[in-house]
Amino acid sequence: MSPLDVLPSPVKGSLKIVWFGGTAAAKITKNTLSRVAPRAMETVARLATVSGRGKGHEGAGAARYFRAVADDYETLAQEIGLVEKGRDLFRGKAVLEVGPGNTRSLGLIAKLRGAKSYDGVDGYDDQARSDRYLRTIYEPLLDLEGETGGYPRAKELLANTQVHTGNDALRRSGRKFDLVVSRAVLEHVMDLDGLYAALRDVTTDDAVLIHKVDLRCHGVRFDTELDFLIFPDSLFRLMSSHSGDMPNRVRAPGYLGLGQRHGFALVYAGATHIVSDAEVTTMKPRLAPPYRDMPDSVLAVLGVWLVQVGPKHPLAKKALKNLDIDALPRAPMEKLAKF
Ligand SMILES: C[S@@+](CC[C@H](N)C(=O)[O-])C[C@H]1O[C@@H](n2cnc3c(N)ncnc32)[C@H](O)[C@@H]1O
Repeated sequence: MSPLDVLPSPVKGSLKIVWFGGTAAAKITKNTLSRVAPRAMETVARLATVSGRGKGHEGAGAARYFRAVADDYETLAQEIGLVEKGRDLFRGKAVLEVGPGNTRSLGLIAKLRGAKSYDGVDGYDDQARSDRYLRTIYEPLLDLEGETGGYPRAKELLANTQVHTGNDALRRSGRKFDLVVSRAVLEHVMDLDGLYAALRDVTTDDAVLIHKVDLRCHGVRFDTELDFLIFPDSLFRLMSSHSGDMPNRVRAPGYLGLGQRHGFALVYAGATHIVSDAEVTTMKPRLAPPYRDMPDSVLAVLGVWLVQVGPKHPLAKKALKNLDIDALPRAPMEKLAKF
């Protein structure tokens, strides 16, 4: 129950209208600034060290966060039979991380766990430049991974790594990758097919892609997790098209067929968060089209793990073609980080 439920309905309804208008105005302002002055907004985000990782994930907290992120990729890969031992996932691989955020922490871990190389691709130039800031994350990360040498060692490990800004820069790099990972990124990508076309161009035929997609509201909520779906599409586009931190609102089925359209085989999909039937039933009539016409089972899924492989990967033969949302299993969340 939300604390707002103690309010009389008309009061709560009025407050929600005020929230709706205020949220739309604030998001449109930020999105417009991101559209007309993208470089300035990137600089502001960099200087403010906006990370998108959420509260408590700075300094040693960020080190723990990224370690859990890397461990999750390894655990899931082992669970579904991609590798024998989790720790083998990064070994010898040319790793591409989509949307690394403002650090190359995952790259550092991948290199320490045997990756041949690490690159990132991000829609925005948000990599922190400040040694002082990066030191607070990389030093504890090295400690946690049992590596000595402190910040200079971290810089050495990251010396030949690069984060490309945009799909064209990624293609121009001429690099080929056999492992692609992302966490809390695909739901921010406004042109998923554009990204996937680029990924197909830069991956080997036996590549593995592991993504965790967060289909929740990203803070756009008044009293329910589905409030972000009440904004009409045309309005939501004005609020979200360029800012990079808003969700694209694509629901789970939109991700299940994505790899297949670009020559990848879906070999695993599992739900991470499911909203209650009661919340879906209450909210559905208030949602904007097309959400109000979607099946309850689609609206209920608020996060997915996806694993796709290239056409020549041995598991490609076992592709889950046209996986129905009702057949989507729960991911083994008891073994994975909850955030
Ligand atoms: C919530 S942050 C997650 C960052 C990091 N993966 C983590 O777990 O801390 C989302 C990231 O997606 C990036 N992003 C947004 N749109 C993108 C796009 N079209 N292509 C690649 N990355 C994008 C953002 O710039 C940001 O780095």
